[in-house]
Amino acid sequence: MRRSTAGPVRWNERVRNFKHMARFIVAISKLYIAIPSAFPRMLTSSRTPRYLKTMEHHNIPLDKFKFDPAIIKNRWLLLAAGKFCAETVPGSATGGALPYNAMTISWGSTGQIWNKLFFQVVVRPTRHTFSFMESGDSFTLSVFPEALKPALSLLGSKSGRDGDKISASGLHPMASSRVAAPSFQEAELVVECRKMYWQDLDPSHFLNPAIEANYPKKDYHRAYFGEIVAVHGTEAYRG
Ligand SMILES: Cc1cc2nc3c(=O)[nH]c(=O)nc-3n(C[C@H](O)[C@H](O)[C@H](O)COP(=O)(O)O)c2cc1C
Repeated sequence: MRRSTAGPVRWNERVRNFKHMARFIVAISKLYIAIPSAFPRMLTSSRTPRYLKTMEHHNIPLDKFKFDPAIIKNRWLLLAAGKFCAETVPGSATGGALPYNAMTISWGSTGQIWNKLFFQVVVRPTRHTFSFMESGDSFTLSVFPEALKPALSLLGSKSGRDGDKISASGLHPMASSRVAAPSFQEAELVVECRKMYWQDLDPSHFLNPAIEANYPKKDYHRAYFGEIVAVHGTEAYRG
């Protein structure tokens, strides 16, 4: 009489499948850990120095400052607020511990009001940067070389509330010349602003109803006007 092998065979198959599944889960977990932790290394690694060139900053007198507003939309700006502190070693801070923060913006304007040169930005109250815009008396706006767009994408998609995204971006904050908010070594232009006016956008004043579509969470921006008090960067911004 032949003995049935179906029982042990099925059992062996089950063990094999279980091993495959376990290996698969371990591999996915490794990827999950490796990819995000590789990002800061990708940006800061010595193999990518052209990403992170320190720019030579020249002081640009305000009456010589030349700026094309299309840069705001096309190149994006980094808005930074709070107090730069040289003692804060980049990378050592845990979530929310930095005394300043920065986020990417692409809405804003520049011009003249009350006989002062200004930069105007809009910040949703839900942003971590908002609290620094509120508590400090200044902000800075930085323009970076095109090659640094990945760093701006990171700073515009992660919150400083959840970790030290500035270190992760690979950018190096530095003291500004006239205001407490930080400047950045890799910026090709930094505009230092002292806050002079704010106002919350009022949805009852939206004359085009389509604007409301930008606010599914009703987190209407607060607009800040900053007086430009200092400008430094490359000669490209000297008129
Ligand atoms: C291209 C771009 C433009 C942005 N413009 C603005 C803006 O003008 N105002 C704003 O409140 N958020 C803007 N954001 C979103 C913030 O940068 C983003 O929510 C960021 O993660 C906030 O960081 P924080 O929580 O550390 O402040 C923009 C994001 C990107 C990618």
